Amino acid sequence: MSVLDTLAGAASTGTLYGIGVGPGDARYLTLRAAGLVRTVDVVAYFAKAGQTGNARRIVSPLIGEGRDERRYEYPVTDEVPAGSLEYGQKIGAFYGRMAAELAALLRDGRSVGLLAEGDPFFYGSFMHMWRRLAPDFPVEVVPGVTGMSGCWTRANLPMTWGDDSLAVLPGTLGEQALVERLRLADAAVIMKVGRNLAKVRRAVEAAGLLARAVYVERGTMENERILPLADCEASIGPYFAMVLIPGEGRRL
Ligand SMILES: C[S@@+](CC[C@H](N)C(=O)[O-])C[C@H]1O[C@@H](n2cnc3c(N)ncnc32)[C@H](O)[C@@H]1O
Repeated sequence: MSVLDTLAGAASTGTLYGIGVGPGDARYLTLRAAGLVRTVDVVAYFAKAGQTGNARRIVSPLIGEGRDERRYEYPVTDEVPAGSLEYGQKIGAFYGRMAAELAALLRDGRSVGLLAEGDPFFYGSFMHMWRRLAPDFPVEVVPGVTGMSGCWTRANLPMTWGDDSLAVLPGTLGEQALVERLRLADAAVIMKVGRNLAKVRRAVEAAGLLARAVYVERGTMENERILPLADCEASIGPYFAMVLIPGEGRRL
């Protein structure tokens, strides 16, 4: 066994693993994540209708023929407002069914690795399985490099200096709420920008931060795109898009 395999460790029976697979580039997986992706009995992942599933795509180089894979397709994603009754009912039922299926696998003694893009405990759908399954089954969560970390690295942006405070804001907030929170922050990351791009741009401008803001699409992935937010003319971006506003704190 190689030293890397020894460090990665093995999967235990009947255990659910929330595997953070990082921001996109497979080289940013941790040793533990890579080891588990190769050895769990079942590889499970979320996917949008008609798509491969981003987390699954990230780990493709590690998955050989004949693995037991379970694809869980969201009934709705960002085409329906997340606060709506329709979204809550459809997604709630979907998570319930999925948890029941995973529970059956775990009861059979199988190890299940549920892939999570970035870090599982940072806006991750994995958390909805963790909430349902952790009371009854052993669960190990493997941290991952977050999307924002991958994005600010690729954008070559040191984010927080000295006593800077960092705000992480979902672009789904209302425009005025975004402006107010941006005004309080030294540095900011705005997630879930996609369909909210035009609103996010207006809020960043109203908060007086447009000159510092950088827009990153698909950071560390194929088709990565990085440009000043001020130069970004589209009103809608892809799902994997965020805005970074670096702090201006103490430089020594
Ligand atoms: C549901 S959150 C998942 C966050 C993920 N668990 C993490 O640790 O980064 C999805 C949002 O994260 C942001 N995101 C994650 N990875 C990204 C990447 N590689 N490039 C750009 N945005 C990314 C986008 O704003 C996207 O809408």
